[in-house]
Amino acid sequence: MDTTQKIILTGDRSTGPLHLGHYVGSLANRVALQNSAKQYIIIADMQALTDNVENPQKVHDNVLEVALDYLAVGIDPAKSTIFIQSLIPQIAELTMFYLNLVSVNRLQRNPTVKTEIAQKGFGETVSAGFLMYPVHQAADITIVKANTVPVGEDQLPVIEQTNEIVRAFNRIYGCNVLVEAQAVIAQVSRLPGIDGSAKMSKSLGNAISLSASADAVVKQVMLMYTDPQHIHVADPGRIEGNTVFTYLDIFGTDTERIAQMKEHYQRGGLGDVVVKKYLIEVLNAFLDPIRMRRAEFAQDRAYVKQLLLDGSAATYAVAERTMREVKEAMHLIYT
Ligand code: TRP
Repeated sequence: MDTTQKIILTGDRSTGPLHLGHYVGSLANRVALQNSAKQYIIIADMQALTDNVENPQKVHDNVLEVALDYLAVGIDPAKSTIFIQSLIPQIAELTMFYLNLVSVNRLQRNPTVKTEIAQKGFGETVSAGFLMYPVHQAADITIVKANTVPVGEDQLPVIEQTNEIVRAFNRIYGCNVLVEAQAVIAQVSRLPGIDGSAKMSKSLGNAISLSASADAVVKQVMLMYTDPQHIHVADPGRIEGNTVFTYLDIFGTDTERIAQMKEHYQRGGLGDVVVKKYLIEVLNAFLDPIRMRRAEFAQDRAYVKQLLLDGSAATYAVAERTMREVKEAMHLIYT
């Protein structure tokens, strides 16, 4: 029997409000997992600065927005500890130790980082801070000795790199202070953007945020990518790669009605607008309770802020204990 206690560390950058892609990729998992394990949720403001160096105000303001998104989807502050990355300086300290265990070449080969560098157009001028963010993230995870990390599948290479660091540390310093982590990936781990591209992402401008108004949802669904060959209502349409049907499969609950619509669409005679109107209904029904909870918490921002400060204080205490062990292993105790 595995008697190891499950400790979870997960989180997001505070670069913008969270969207449906976050929900499908990891938020739903976090809401479920908080009942069976100790869960820490990091709001990564320092990681947010790695690709938002010129927008410190935005990064600051989004800390509270991301916290509101967590509370809105059902993260329970009595069960999960939400904290702010920059309030735990031990993470930065640990990152410096880890940097000696990782080659620059290895960082440049990290597929997640490579994709992001290309997407953001950083090229050769990528900052050292951005390139090393997976090492910083390894410190996020290991500072609380997390063994479980619920994330979107794009983060898998970062978890892999974390475990390489853990193994190198324990080997070199002859200890077992650090714990390897296992990623938990959602069943549907990737939601396409409304433009039909592979991934919903705020920076690609194809996202529906969890805080989107009902009107915004109407606008975005009406723009949604369907079957470009489906020109006249009478034409047979394709449901494969048709974003509207992909979303219906994920967020819809009336599977019979969806199956009927698919059949009708493929046969011909069902227009995109009808299907889109149904998706709007489905998405708004999904988002309504989230919007309501968000609005409630948003009325008391002081409470939410205090929650973050309390969560950070609790995490700080845990981080202190880990750092003590790390420094003992590294012969860095001078008292
Ligand atoms: N890199 C993650 C993202 O971009 C956010 C993040 C920061 C994270 N630290 C983490 C995720 C630790 C899991 C664990 O979404």
